[in-house]
Amino acid sequence: MAAIAPPRSGSGRPLWLDAAPAGIAEAARLLRAGALVAFPTETVYGLGADATDPAAIAGLYAAKGRPHFNPLIAHAATLDAALELGDFPEPARALARAFWPGPLTLVVPAGAASPVCELARAGLATLAIRVPDHPVAQAILAATGRPVAAPSANRSGHVSPTRPEHVAADLGAGIAAIVAGGASPVGVESTILACLDGEVALLRPGGLPRAAIEARLGRPLAAHRGDGAAPLAPGRLDSHYAPAHPVRLDAARILPGEACLGFGLPLPAGAEAGLTLNLSETGDLAEAAANLYHHLRALDARAHRGIAVAPIPPEGLGEAIRDRLRRAAAPRA
Ligand code: TXA
Ligand code: MG
Repeated sequence: MAAIAPPRSGSGRPLWLDAAPAGIAEAARLLRAGALVAFPTETVYGLGADATDPAAIAGLYAAKGRPHFNPLIAHAATLDAALELGDFPEPARALARAFWPGPLTLVVPAGAASPVCELARAGLATLAIRVPDHPVAQAILAATGRPVAAPSANRSGHVSPTRPEHVAADLGAGIAAIVAGGASPVGVESTILACLDGEVALLRPGGLPRAAIEARLGRPLAAHRGDGAAPLAPGRLDSHYAPAHPVRLDAARILPGEACLGFGLPLPAGAEAGLTLNLSETGDLAEAAANLYHHLRALDARAHRGIAVAPIPPEGLGEAIRDRLRRAAAPRA
């Protein structure tokens, strides 16, 4: 068995791999050797590590600066591979069949036979599982042949990455490779549902809108029972997705020197051309989600005093966009 030494942190920049067969094979070899590899999914770029390997998972927490109490999502290439990772009660099985591959994560009991290591689950008896709908992610997962834990490939607490350049800017030398597969088309993370005790609860709004899930279930989603001190989704901390500059929501007016993140037209009064990016001039929420993190990063680089965000409607993907912006605007710890 040829052992591949993953590039050590500090040894320089990560390898930049093409999303072509040779790059995908190299990504899978590195993952199987315990290294960290960032790759595209339809939602955001993930930072992958072999979910069965506690040493690889420890390296992943370290590279992100992520607290160990915050569990990871295990990714699988296919529905059948995903169903092997945990115990899927109904209606989790029906939701998996309806929406995988896709921007949906299901939290189910891990079960005694799960191959995912305890550290990846942060010691919980439950496990978050997802089958991404992206050809490059699926090819890497299939070639790796193991579940891959993949949080968003950003420093913990920072804006999520939707392009390989975002990953390089955030994580650089700490990781072995970045598979460059263009912009993530959905642009916000997966919707997370807890399927426990016969109930289906929304833990995180995301790329699969609530209405589609409720139509499939035939009933409204339960509200999640976590609270600030002991959140049910441990990573749902108040401040997250945060650029360096302060963020102000539902702005009707832009103050002098403030950058403007617009939605639709007209822009809020006072927006300066050189300091403004529009999520979607036509008010299209799917386009806005796809642009959200790129525009936030770009405005953060240009802003002098803060980023003001135009009002965004709460329906459809607007629920996830507003959730991310509210956390970007939350007081920092
Ligand atoms: O779209 C996505 O979901 C992306 C791509 C890469 O797949 N991944 C992602 O991972 O957003 P991450 O780690 O950034 O966010 C995962 C969230 C965290 O808030 C974590 O606390 C929650 O999922 N989570 C993971 N396992 C859980 C569990 N067993 N119970 C409740 N929440 C869980
Ligand atoms: Mg994240």
